[in-house]
Amino acid sequence: MSDRVIITGGSGRLGRSVVDGFSAAGHQVISMDRTLPETPVSGVDYRAADLLDAVATAELFAEVGPDSVVSLAAIAVPFSAPEDVILKTNVGIAHNVTAAAVAAGARTVIIASSPSIMGYGSPVEWVPPRLPLDENVTPYPWHAYGLSKYAAEQVAAMFAQQTSRVKFISFRPCYVIAPEEWQGGPTQQGHTLVERLDRPELSAVALFNYVDARDVTDFLLTALASSDQVSNGAVFFVGAKDALARKPLSELIPEYFPELSHLAEGLTGDSPAFSVQKAKDVLGWEPKRSWRTELVE
Ligand SMILES: NC(=O)c1ccc[n+]([C@@H]2O[C@H](COP(=O)([O-])OP(=O)(O)OC[C@H]3O[C@@H](n4cnc5c(N)ncnc54)[C@H](O)[C@@H]3O)[C@@H](O)[C@H]2O)c1
Repeated sequence: MSDRVIITGGSGRLGRSVVDGFSAAGHQVISMDRTLPETPVSGVDYRAADLLDAVATAELFAEVGPDSVVSLAAIAVPFSAPEDVILKTNVGIAHNVTAAAVAAGARTVIIASSPSIMGYGSPVEWVPPRLPLDENVTPYPWHAYGLSKYAAEQVAAMFAQQTSRVKFISFRPCYVIAPEEWQGGPTQQGHTLVERLDRPELSAVALFNYVDARDVTDFLLTALASSDQVSNGAVFFVGAKDALARKPLSELIPEYFPELSHLAEGLTGDSPAFSVQKAKDVLGWEPKRSWRTELVE
């Protein structure tokens, strides 16, 4: 089925692939972002908008009348702005966009959260109950970015308590790799993927997680098409099937996180620290791309 889909943050690292994939899948795409992309996708309606302006956002959504909304716009990097700015921006956008989507008659709203809400990297000891992490493990955000994304999930859950006419889904994409990064383009942290693999301390900060932006797009298309399978307000991890590491995590985790050694024994071979089993069980989605097949070294 072809939907009229608003994608917020459509000019960003993840948004560009999502806009491209949704358009290629036959959806009518309206991208809303503060900035316009350098290379627009033909047929996509790009609108420059500040989604922190609740009134303007509501007016724009009412004018478009979306069937579905994918909410990606945010400050996407922890500590890249003052903590209060990250919190206000990300929670403000999540609320404005979700409220505008509901008021404009959307049937599905999918909101980007982040695995970083789990709490890894905290300066005080963080020991989860198990690895790999799954959606039943309680998040313990330790910075404003993590808190803002946890709050974004709660925004979706709150609206799910207000109406059953709309399906709300949150997803936690792992470290997003845009297609050009496989050829040596800079990743979100500035270094290349080869550097990230050769220097495990770079990838350890995110527990060696990653996902190809096109796999995230496939997840979003699947979630949209099968939203009736999802309980309202549900949350999904969206990651690759393997870890972004040349050695097994059963070796790397004890080296970089000694306090997690007892949890890492099962992470042999190429096993990641995040489970995507729920997305497979509920939606039938599985990631297709791995650094082992995509990376041009
Ligand atoms: N990149 C990752 O590794 C990663 C991992 C986990 C979660 N996420 C989440 O996925 C989403 C997309 O991430 P990304 O890497 O593409 O980020 P990005 O920074 O590349 O893109 C975010 C986009 O949001 C837009 N934006 C910011 N504030 C805005 C506002 N007030 N009004 C309108 N547009 C605004 C920016 O202009 C930008 O184009 C974010 O919500 C991010 O938190 C990303």
